[in-house]
Amino acid sequence: MTVESEYRVMTNGLEGIVAASTRLSEVDGERGRLTIAGYAVEDLAPRASFEEVAYLLLHGRLPDATEQRTFAHQLRERRTLPPVIITVLERAAAAGAPAIDALRMATPLLSLGHAEEPLNDAIRLIGSFPTIVGTYGRLSRGEPSVPVRADLSHAAHYLHQLRGSVPSSEQVRALETYLNTVCDHGLNASTFTARVIASTRSDVISAVTGAVGALKGPLHGGAPGPALDMVFEISRADRAEAVIRAKLDRGERIMGFGHRVYRVRDPRAEVLAQAAERFYSKDGDRNLYELVRAVEATALRLLHAYKPERRIATNVEFYTALLLHGLGLPTDLFTATFAVGRVAGWSAHCLEQLREGRLIRPQSEYVGPSGLHYEQQLPNGALTPPASARAGA
Ligand code: ACO
Repeated sequence: MTVESEYRVMTNGLEGIVAASTRLSEVDGERGRLTIAGYAVEDLAPRASFEEVAYLLLHGRLPDATEQRTFAHQLRERRTLPPVIITVLERAAAAGAPAIDALRMATPLLSLGHAEEPLNDAIRLIGSFPTIVGTYGRLSRGEPSVPVRADLSHAAHYLHQLRGSVPSSEQVRALETYLNTVCDHGLNASTFTARVIASTRSDVISAVTGAVGALKGPLHGGAPGPALDMVFEISRADRAEAVIRAKLDRGERIMGFGHRVYRVRDPRAEVLAQAAERFYSKDGDRNLYELVRAVEATALRLLHAYKPERRIATNVEFYTALLLHGLGLPTDLFTATFAVGRVAGWSAHCLEQLREGRLIRPQSEYVGPSGLHYEQQLPNGALTPPASARAGA
């Protein structure tokens, strides 16, 4: 809803408002295109390494071979967690905290003992997120953490931290495609959060801590778990219509569908659907893949019938669920795994904001009461007269 007054325009949820310039990614919601620092997501995500993509975001261009080696080394050096983070993760696991909360508790501790330095902080965040989430994945299942291996790539290291064994090259490629696909996406809610914090000239680790909190919500990064739960609830293609209809009749949202910006299929859903197809044709439950395709088709048909004016299409979270499940990740790690990829974009946005941005400080429209007078309650229950009355006495 947009309300215009003589002086300003109010848009509920800031829909359609441009609040920053960026060189990092461009989201074209009408044509369903995502460009990451100049590269189409379909071109970059399935082929580049995550290290290359993270470097691209931080430095604005792909690295040459020497820069790539140096950058990969810098990330590897930051894999090992300080003991205080392990302690927090153990306490979080004992309390049964969701993985995304454990990540949000651990992230600010990455600043302990380090002087603030934006690029260094960014590399520490990117380098340590896989260890934090992988370690938590094991601790929360009562398994001991595994020592960090310096000889594995970033994506392989994450899977190794989680499982304690070295993954296959297909599994690494599938995860890397996922991490690249979600690395950045315009001014989404968590990136906006990070940029608002950075715009006050706060530090990158504070900004990314806030972003992790914003990612948690089911309207943003918290959708893939519920999307997969729905697929399992449906369980057979011929039940999809009845289950989805019942949800829509109850006014529920269908997780993995709809987007604030895309009015056509999210291009990331296509990249991940293709990655899932490649992966599931070799190494996974092909029936599940077919079921997911059938659920998608039914959901789209029903969403179109129920909300024709909104043009609701598949978003990135729907195929995220399928791909991460195929990689053996438990549902409760999906959102934190999203953060393992998105932390590259958050960090790069912070650097950009610190370099070029201005304090982000919009206004609010006041809709509360006015003209009230404060009356103090005395111990005997009586009320003092308003100041205006006292002044006249
Ligand atoms: N299922 C059912 N109805 C939906 C859905 C959906 N998935 N998405 C939007 N709608 C409906 C809303 O109920 C609303 O209907 P109404 O006008 O009759 O009340 C209308 O479409 C507009 O909804 P808004 O929330 O105002 O639209 P917005 O542009 O903010 O929606 C959002 C974007 C929040 C992602 C929404 O589509 C949604 O809730 N989807 C399900 C959750 C999800 O998949 N989240 C992941 C998003 S991708 C990401 O953040 C990485």
